[in-house]
Amino acid sequence: MNILVIGTGYVGTTTALVFAEMGWNVTGLDTDSLKINQLKQGNLHFYEPGLEELLRKHMQSGHLQFTTDKDQAINNNDIIFICVGTPSGPDGNADLSYVQQVAEDIGHASNRYKLIINKSTVPVGTQERVTSWIKSAQIESHPFDVASNPEFLREGKALIDALNPDRIIIGSNHERATHLILTLYQSVNCPVVVTTPRTAELIKYASNAFLATKISYINEMARLCDKLGVHVKDVAEGIGLDPRIGQSFLQAGIGYGGSCFPKDVSALLLTAKANDTELSLLEKVVSVNQTQHLYLLDKVRERLETLAHKKIAVLGLAFKPETDDIREAPASRVIQSLLSEQAYVSVFDPVAPLEPYLLQQPITWSATPEDALQHADAVILCTEWAIYQQIDWVQMKNIMNQPNMFDGRNMLEATLMKSIGFYYQGIGC
Ligand code: UDX
Repeated sequence: MNILVIGTGYVGTTTALVFAEMGWNVTGLDTDSLKINQLKQGNLHFYEPGLEELLRKHMQSGHLQFTTDKDQAINNNDIIFICVGTPSGPDGNADLSYVQQVAEDIGHASNRYKLIINKSTVPVGTQERVTSWIKSAQIESHPFDVASNPEFLREGKALIDALNPDRIIIGSNHERATHLILTLYQSVNCPVVVTTPRTAELIKYASNAFLATKISYINEMARLCDKLGVHVKDVAEGIGLDPRIGQSFLQAGIGYGGSCFPKDVSALLLTAKANDTELSLLEKVVSVNQTQHLYLLDKVRERLETLAHKKIAVLGLAFKPETDDIREAPASRVIQSLLSEQAYVSVFDPVAPLEPYLLQQPITWSATPEDALQHADAVILCTEWAIYQQIDWVQMKNIMNQPNMFDGRNMLEATLMKSIGFYYQGIGC
């Protein structure tokens, strides 16, 4: 089968590559010619382990091509995935303008039956809106179906997640659409849920909101652990062994970030509000997350007495390891707070850049962790990059002004750090 993937961002590129790997002929379409040219040359425009190798493999295998010619691409392909961005609009609702543009392009260029499958995270009811946008843009009437097939991949693990999904959700009102989507995924071995488009759309939001809830739950529990002298890691392990709870997403830290959790939780809260329903638990999830970095900064301030004119090294800018994505990264919130209290800030991340709004600020960019830590009064670990475990912390202790370690991801061994001579504080230990 021939598949068109519209949008070559994170989800779109991964989707295109994975379908090519499954043996389908895939075309990736984007209006951004820079991105398309880069992809054509076998280069990814974002950092994600394993994807570039697959890109090069399928540029050669002939299963994958990229284009900016939307009319031709829509004409030539009957199965079309929508993978464009749905960023938060000014009111916090998902901005559907890119989805609408794509739907109208499809309607305008359609020449025969098309199956349009939405992978972008979109509010409940979007399948119906896409249907009407396509219909109103059609010059001649051609049959089409619109289905929902949300994506659950994690950044940094996109390839593993997309090749071995834990479930496939198909939101479809039509037998022929369901059958085609099942055929597309025939080589994947995992549970499949076939449901209505509205249910599929809500599953995606409810899923991310539940994971965010687990994180805020353990983060709030970590604050109590600090008061009680209990290790939150042990609590997480103990409760997580109950299969009804599970071990994952119980890692306490300075809070969740990224392009999904903050945006999706806020969009779900607005959907609830628009439908006269209170999701009070989720509101609390957001407020715990928004204050979690301040909780760690209180510890730093308490130790140093003041942050003013103290040199603080921030290790990690990305919202999590194995990605260069800095969207809603807790590290940026930490840096902003430090600057507002007149601290001198040095930063290091193996791949992620600084947020553009921080570029004009007096921040020292360091090429190595050692550079960042030179003469520092404290180090705040914001992203758990594996390389931080390999650092020679004995040597680091000697180059710092004061060996204070605030581990915002509970990554390092507290006993080891203390035995080296560090004052070590994590979150909930
Ligand atoms: C998430 C979902 O996991 C994925 O299914 C969905 O498709 C997109 O959103 P992603 O944003 O890539 O994926 O990252 P994820 O691994 O879920 O982590 C999100 C944030 O939560 C990160 O900032 C991470 O550091 C934080 N986190 C995660 C914790 O603080 N504790 C945990 O136990 C797990």
